[in-house]
This record gives sequence, structure tokens and C-alpha cells, in this order.
Amino acid sequence: MPPAGDESLADRLTGRRGGRHAETEGLVVSPLPTPMLQPWEVYDQDLFDLEMLRVFARSWVWLGDTDDLQQPGDYITGAIGHQPVVIVRTATGEIKGYLNNCRHRASSVVPAPVGNCGSSMVCPYHNWTYNLDGRLIGIPDRLRMYPDGLPTEDYGLVPIRVDVAWNKLVFGCLSRRAPSFREWIAPIADRYDRYRFDTFQRYPRELDQVYPINWKAFVENSNDDYHVRFVHRRINDQRRQMDTVVRVDGRTCSGYKPHPDSFDTAGGRTDMAEEDLKGHYADFIYPNLTPLPYATMLILVRADPIAPDRTRLVSRIYGLDKTPEEQEADLVNLELTNQEDTDMVTVLMGNLRSPFYRVGPRSTWEARAAHVMQTIRADVATPLAPDEFTA
Ligand code: FES
Ligand SMILES: [Fe+2]
Repeated sequence: MPPAGDESLADRLTGRRGGRHAETEGLVVSPLPTPMLQPWEVYDQDLFDLEMLRVFARSWVWLGDTDDLQQPGDYITGAIGHQPVVIVRTATGEIKGYLNNCRHRASSVVPAPVGNCGSSMVCPYHNWTYNLDGRLIGIPDRLRMYPDGLPTEDYGLVPIRVDVAWNKLVFGCLSRRAPSFREWIAPIADRYDRYRFDTFQRYPRELDQVYPINWKAFVENSNDDYHVRFVHRRINDQRRQMDTVVRVDGRTCSGYKPHPDSFDTAGGRTDMAEEDLKGHYADFIYPNLTPLPYATMLILVRADPIAPDRTRLVSRIYGLDKTPEEQEADLVNLELTNQEDTDMVTVLMGNLRSPFYRVGPRSTWEARAAHVMQTIRADVATPLAPDEFTA
């Protein structure tokens, strides 16, 4: 559905979609309606730009963890869609977040992915200086540069909402109207409490790579429980029969796969529900995070959109009492899984350019992917509220 409330863009998107197909009708018959990702949704720059606002600016996005935010001045940087943000531990021990845009010109205030900035953030371009509470406290040559004065109180760093979930994982949100993070993930929140992620340790290296794929194409693949036994057939022995229980609910969804008795990932834990110990979940937290939680391991894969045909994947693993050898084996396994998925999606990216291709019907085990695609379309069709950022 074209976005409402923006006629010229809606017309352009509709026209482009129609134009692409107008002369190619008739060769391929695909009678069933389908909610799956459409080719024009993958390559359209205007749609992509709108997604950065209407999907990402109203969502909670995972940015990192408290391991990097132990001391005052410790910071991490990241992005919510195309908006750079910084999270910092303040002098009083709070964790706060800001837009990582200097209020003078467009420089990032802190440029590194992670670090310690001491007691203030000094912009590298002209050295405007902000304290850890975001207040503008220093302007070099201020009297000469701004002889008529400058209302410094209006030029502090712009705060964003931050949630530290399970005393570990840091999420940020630009919207003031979005529900709390807890409500955002309500359908899985109680189960996630039981894993006790605060007792897990981050593995020593993470995976970080850019792929020639659209972020929604990756998200569709992540929420597709149908491809798993074919594309990842090397791990079929970790599943009992080929059962999957698919759940979709609001901004989260899950595909639960029971384990055979020979594959025990409980790690001796008995403090969780039997179902959680005897199988594993492929979960999704809208709009771009794929968590795979186990009793002794949490895998997070985040898809950061860069351009319609470029996506950065950042993957991190946390574990409970894992040896260095076990950690490395888990990382190698995740590298293989990511490669299998991105290789497949890269093939799709090329073929989505086929002028005569028509998208096929949704299967039962693609229900999660369909739900996410429809949620994205609904967000794109809904303008941000006039008080989205002031409520
Ligand atoms: S851009 Fe930051 S001080 Fe000029
Ligand atoms: Fe996969």
C-alpha cells in the first residue's frame, strides 16, 4: 500500500510499481495473493528513505551492551536507521543516549564505535564540548565567534530514550510515543526474563560484515522457518523431526524447534520451562533484530540498513560458562549460518530484478516473515505523529 498523507510520493511509488509491470503481464500466472516481499520494495530509494523514518524512528533498536559502559565516560555509538546515536555512562552512573550529531555542523560528537571520552564529549571538528549530561559547556573563541551571544541551553545534545534490558542489553528509541521497550517485546518478555542474560558473558569477538542485500530481504529470510532444513541442512540433527511452532504477536515473533533427546543444550539448568530447555527459538524483535536464545547461549544478529541494496550485519554471542574453544566453535557455526543465509539472499537480490518474476504464495512456515513485511508496510503507510518527538 502506498504511504498515506504524502500524495506525491504515493503517486510516484504506485506509478513506478505499475510502470515496471505494465508491459510484462501475461507470461507468468501467479493467481494467489501474497504478503511476501515485492521486488519494487527491495530497490526503491524513496521507499527506503521513508523506512528510515517511519519504521526506524518509531522503533526500539538494539545498540550494544553494558560491558562497554562500565565507567563514567564509557560510550558506544550506533544508528537507529540512518540516525547516528551515542550511549554514554554519566558521572552519576546513569546510562543516557543522544543523537550523535554535533549541534554546530554534522560531525559525530564521538566518532569511535566504543571508547571512553573522560568527563566530556569534545567534537573533533571545532571542539564544541558537551558534558555527559549532554549540556553544551564549551565553545572555542566564543566571544569572537558569537559576539552577539548564543543560547547554549538550546544547543545541547538531543536526548533519546534508552532501555537497559536484563541489566545487559542496551536499546534506544527516538519516538516519545512508542510504548516502553518492555511493552514492545511483551509477548516474549517473561520468557526472556527466565534466561538470566545478566549472567551470560560476551564472546571475545563479534561478526561485522556488509552484504549486497536489502535489509528487508534479510529480515524476510530470518523469519522464514521453511528454508532452515534445506539451506542449513548441516544442523538438521539438532532438530526433532522437522517440527516448528510459529508464533507472531505484535512487534515480536518466534519459530520454536524442539530438539531430539540426543541434543541437550540445557547445560544442566532446571530453572526454566521444559519447553525452553528442550528446544530452541528463532525469535525476532521488530524491526531488525534476530535473537536466538538458548539456556546457555544468546545469539544476536542485527541488520543495519545502509542502502536499498546494502546491509551491515552485526552478530554477537553471549554464553554461560563457555570455554574459549566452545566460544570459538559457536562463532564459526554462526559465521557459517550467516554465510548460508546471505549467499541465498544475494541470489534472490539478483533475481528480484527479473522483469517477469512474480512473487509466490506464503507457506505456513513463512508466517513470521509475512507478519513482519505487513508490519513494515503498515508503518510506512502511517506518517509519524505531529507529537512523535515531543509527546
Ligand atoms: S561540527 Fe562540532 S564543533 Fe563544529
Ligand atoms: Fe537461515
